[in-house]
Amino acid sequence: MDVIRSVDTMHALALGWRARGKKVGFVPTMGYLHRGHTTLIELMRQRCEILVVSIYVNPLQFAPNEDLGRYPRDPEGDARKCEAAKCDILFMPDNLYPPDFRTTVNVGQITTRWEGAARPTHFQGVATVVCRLFGLVQPTAAMFGEKDYQQFAVLKSMAHDLAMGIEIVPGPLVRDHDGLALSSRNVYLSAEDRRRALSLHRALYAMRDSRAPTATERVAEGRAILDCDSLDYLAVVDPDTLEPVERIDRPLRAIATARYGKTRLLDNVAIEP
Ligand code: PAJ
Repeated sequence: MDVIRSVDTMHALALGWRARGKKVGFVPTMGYLHRGHTTLIELMRQRCEILVVSIYVNPLQFAPNEDLGRYPRDPEGDARKCEAAKCDILFMPDNLYPPDFRTTVNVGQITTRWEGAARPTHFQGVATVVCRLFGLVQPTAAMFGEKDYQQFAVLKSMAHDLAMGIEIVPGPLVRDHDGLALSSRNVYLSAEDRRRALSLHRALYAMRDSRAPTATERVAEGRAILDCDSLDYLAVVDPDTLEPVERIDRPLRAIATARYGKTRLLDNVAIEP
C-alpha cells in the first residue's frame, strides 16, 4: 500500500489509471476507522482492480459549533487497517483545497430535510468534497455506507445529475454486537447513554416488523420504544427522494436521529411492504 499526501501526485496517478482503462474503486472516509468502514473497504476490494481509500476530515461539512476540532483521529491505526484490507492507495492529504477554491456543489431539495434541517450547510460541504475527491481519484465506482442513508442518496443524485459516470454503490450498515450502529461518534457516549441508545435500533426494527399500513402508526410504535434526550426526527421516507411517505405499500426507509447529551446518533432501516 502506498500512502499519498500530495493532491498533485494523487491526480497524476489517477489520470494514468484512467488512460489505461483500470477499474478504480474508491471509499472516502474521515478516518478513525471502525468495522463499518473496513467492511466497505473489503467489499469494494472485490469489485475493482485498484482500491483507493481517502482520509480527510473535511472542514466544509462542519458548522462552526460542531466537533471539527475534537473529531477523533488515529492515522497510524487507520493505515494498518487499510493495509490489512488490501487497499492499494491510502490518500491522506493534509489540505485538500487550493487557496483559490471557490466552487460549492448544491444537490437541491433532497439536502434540505432531516440531517439538512439540523445542519443547513452540511450536505453542501459533503457534496463539494466528494466532487473534488472524485476529480482527483477518477474512480469508476465509489461506496458509501447506508449508515448515513441521506448522504448516500444525496451523492447518488449528484453523480446521476452531473453524469459523472461513477457507480455509487451502497454499503451495508454495520452494527456493534448489541445492535448499535457503529459510528466514530459513539466514543462520546457515557455508559448509561450508550445503553439507552440501544432503543434507537429497537424502535426502527419494531417499525420495520409492524404490520400497520401507515407511517403515522409505525412512527407512533417506534416513538413508544425510543428512549433519548431529544428526537430530531423519526420518519418513513421514499428511499430515493427522502420525501415523507404515508402509505406503506412499496419499499421505503425508516430514518431517525436522536440526541444523547450533545451526541447525535443516526440510524435507519429498510421497510418492505
Ligand atoms: P465517515 O463518517 O468517516 O464515513 C465514511 C464512510 O463510512 C461513509 O460512507 C459512511 O456512511 C460509512 N460508514 C460509517 N459508519 C458505518 C457503519 N456503521 N456501517 C456502514 N457504513 C458506515 O461519511 C463521511 O465520513 C464523510 O461525510 C465523507 C463521505 C467521507 C465526506 O467527507
